[in-house]
Amino acid sequence: MIILLGCLVLLELSRMVAPLDFNYHNHTELEQFLKNISQQYPDITRMHSIGKSVKDADLWVIVIGEGANKHVTLNPNVKYVANMHGNEAVGREMLLHLIDNLVKSYGGNTTLTNFLKTTTVHIMPTMNPDGFADASYGNCTSKTGRNNGVSYDLNRNFPDYWVENKVPIQPETRAIMNWMKEEQFVLSINFQGSALVATYPFDNYPNASGVSAYASSPDDDVFRHLSLTYSKNHPTMRLGNSCNDSGPFKDGITNGALWYPVTGGMQDYNYIYAGCMETTLEISCCFYPTSDELPGYWERNKNSLISYLMQVHMGVKGLVFDENRNTLVGATVAVKGREQFPVKTTEYGEYWKLLLPGKYVLQVSLPGYYSVYKSFSVVSGTVTRMDVTLREIGQVTYVKSTGSEPVSSLILFWVVFLLAFLSVHEQ
Ligand SMILES: *[C@@H]1O[C@H](CO)[C@@H](O)[C@H](O)[C@H]1NC(C)=O
Ligand SMILES: *[C@@H]1O[C@H](CO)[C@@H](O)[C@H](O)[C@H]1NC(C)=O
Ligand SMILES: *[C@@H]1O[C@H](CO)[C@@H](O)[C@H](O)[C@H]1NC(C)=O
Ligand SMILES: *[C@@H]1O[C@H](CO)[C@@H](O)[C@H](O)[C@H]1NC(C)=O
Ligand SMILES: *[C@@H]1O[C@H](CO)[C@@H](O)[C@H](O)[C@H]1NC(C)=O
Ligand SMILES: *[C@@H]1O[C@H](CO)[C@@H](O)[C@H](O)[C@H]1NC(C)=O
Ligand SMILES: [Zn+2]
Repeated sequence: MIILLGCLVLLELSRMVAPLDFNYHNHTELEQFLKNISQQYPDITRMHSIGKSVKDADLWVIVIGEGANKHVTLNPNVKYVANMHGNEAVGREMLLHLIDNLVKSYGGNTTLTNFLKTTTVHIMPTMNPDGFADASYGNCTSKTGRNNGVSYDLNRNFPDYWVENKVPIQPETRAIMNWMKEEQFVLSINFQGSALVATYPFDNYPNASGVSAYASSPDDDVFRHLSLTYSKNHPTMRLGNSCNDSGPFKDGITNGALWYPVTGGMQDYNYIYAGCMETTLEISCCFYPTSDELPGYWERNKNSLISYLMQVHMGVKGLVFDENRNTLVGATVAVKGREQFPVKTTEYGEYWKLLLPGKYVLQVSLPGYYSVYKSFSVVSGTVTRMDVTLREIGQVTYVKSTGSEPVSSLILFWVVFLLAFLSVHEQ
């Protein structure tokens, strides 16, 4: 009896220290894993639920980085979301392994430690826990579990810019939309699993009616770069053959609408309504492969997963101030030539804009302030820091006149001059 108990204790202990296994984790196990990580790494992680699925399962997110529990000025937020189609299960496990890898690298691996000092990573292993609970283990083709608990396809459920989406917004979708209002995400991936290709906005265009065509966004160059970062670091995606049934996709990437148009997709919503550069990564040909295949998937995806995250540090970032060095919230920041969907400054006055190396002009505006145009350059391998000060319209200032100086400050200048003159004469 005592021996048996001892064995049970040992079994329990060995389970506590074992590295993350290559098995699928159901909702209870996933929750336990995230709790364990957040307890073991309290300084660099924070676990929270952004809402509930239609069948009342928590939509868990773990935040990783030195900014997980406190605000670090100008650390960009990047997010990874998987398993939106509940039957497409590989991404879910890849993200658990990524979490494991990031927290264990902190303090050891210099590159990743520096990355976690300067970046806040938000990981949501499942957006559709109800669908996953219904999906068939080991079945490569079954669509059971693709939709949420009441049969809505979540990747057709977001407001659409090009055509009115009449489908009722589901709790899972609403949770994501609210989350994006709380955090300014800069970069993102939606992980799927029904092909082997990186796809990027737009997914739709006016009156697409199912016809495939390249729908280019103003940031097409950046989206292509992001997609290529994933595919080129992936030994088989880069070949562009996908699953030998769709494509070929040159270099393993495609514009979303060129593959097939989608109404109500999550990636266009991110880019158009939330100022976040999201791509959709199809990382497996089999929807729900058996567990023994997971180590191979991890090997093929891990470099891509990390390289893509690091792309959040390119382009330009900065703070927007008024003349008293107060940060300005909600200022519009656009780059000339790509101003269709500008970003807004955060509650801390921060902005980020991903750009490839080159010369650009930034335009910053806010009602009640003079707009500012500033030229800048972006060089490879670093992010340009550019803070901007906006001057209030009608405000009295002593700033040197640039021709557009408000009349009031000139008047004030003469009044002060006259008073000084008079006071000198009185003495
Ligand atoms: C908890 O995390 C540690 C460190 O990552 C790991 O060794 C251990 O196996 C985990 N335990 C569970 C129950 O997941
Ligand atoms: C997950 O699996 C464990 C057994 O490994 C089981 O006890 C638990 O009820 C399962 N949870 C769900 C949500 O299926
Ligand atoms: C640190 O992590 C990066 C990214 O995963 C990897 O490329 C590099 O080889 C690691 N460095 C060491 C010394 O292990
Ligand atoms: C996968 O599921 C489909 C039903 O959706 C079924 O017809 C097929 O036999 C299943 N395949 C396997 C290998 O279980
Ligand atoms: C789309 O279709 C509507 C209604 O048929 C039409 O009014 C509109 O002009 C079309 N837009 C474009 C860009 O083709
Ligand atoms: C595509 O076909 C090639 C050649 O027959 C094969 O080696 C490869 O495994 C196939 N890829 C997939 C994803 O099925
Ligand atoms: Zn899918």
